[in-house]
Amino acid sequence: MPVVPLKQVVDRAFAERYGVAAINVVNDLTMEAVLAAAVAEHAPVIIQTSVKTVRSIGLDLLFAMWREMTAGIEVPVSLHLDHCPDREVLSACLRKGWNSVLFDGSTLPVAENQRQTIEVVSEARSYGANVEGEIEAITGVEDDIGSDEEAKRESLPVALEFIRATGIDVFAPAIGNAHGVYHTEPHLDAQRVSDIVAAQPIPIALHGGTGMTDAQFTDLIARGCAKVNISTALKVTFMKSSLDYLRQAEERDSWDPPSLFGATRAAVTQMAADHMRRFGSAGKAW
Ligand code: 13P
Repeated sequence: MPVVPLKQVVDRAFAERYGVAAINVVNDLTMEAVLAAAVAEHAPVIIQTSVKTVRSIGLDLLFAMWREMTAGIEVPVSLHLDHCPDREVLSACLRKGWNSVLFDGSTLPVAENQRQTIEVVSEARSYGANVEGEIEAITGVEDDIGSDEEAKRESLPVALEFIRATGIDVFAPAIGNAHGVYHTEPHLDAQRVSDIVAAQPIPIALHGGTGMTDAQFTDLIARGCAKVNISTALKVTFMKSSLDYLRQAEERDSWDPPSLFGATRAAVTQMAADHMRRFGSAGKAW
């Protein structure tokens, strides 16, 4: 199964009510580990890159890694640009071959966000790519984008008009979710997902997945959250497993980088596979 457009993986998940893990990777090791989890779990997966990751690795190298690692892969995989307010980066990724982008116009007035999202959808279509849209910022700063202050939620008619007018493929509403670590269990407005989906059947992106409970995932996925974003869990797993391994290396006074990479890769693969099982996408590759 080759690399596929985002729409192909999320539409099926939306119809069958499971969630596709959309995991932000930070380098070659984490990209490889998440893809390995998808193959092992026979699950579709969305690999996400933040603008920060695109800038730190470089567009050409990042895409070359993706192409090399997905050549001949047996499960449906899709490459997505996460929260991007910068139209130049967004255009460069689409030109290069990213399968989808999230145009983050959430700091703009809705009318201007809508106008620009229409342009992005038309640009993406010319590459056979898809677009996720949002009208409210998701709380929390992730990879230098966003704010810790909760944004005002727009009314249902405003959200529905944005979806209809722009023709986006996936919608990311704010429902009390946040990027980063939750210090108390989040209170999520699950009804908002149901209200949007009932009026406008569109796959919903659930942001801020790290730290949500199984019950929250199950409920939200049943309501139409077909794309479930995970970033912080990967960062924490990557850093903590590296730290554990380095502490042991120090104790043994044994310094072998490939063994460190192996331990970290195994931990990240495990974390990604766990989420695929929790979201019901394991075994759903076709
Ligand atoms: P977390 O960092 O909370 O997992 O959120 C990820 C996300 O929504 C990326 O856009």
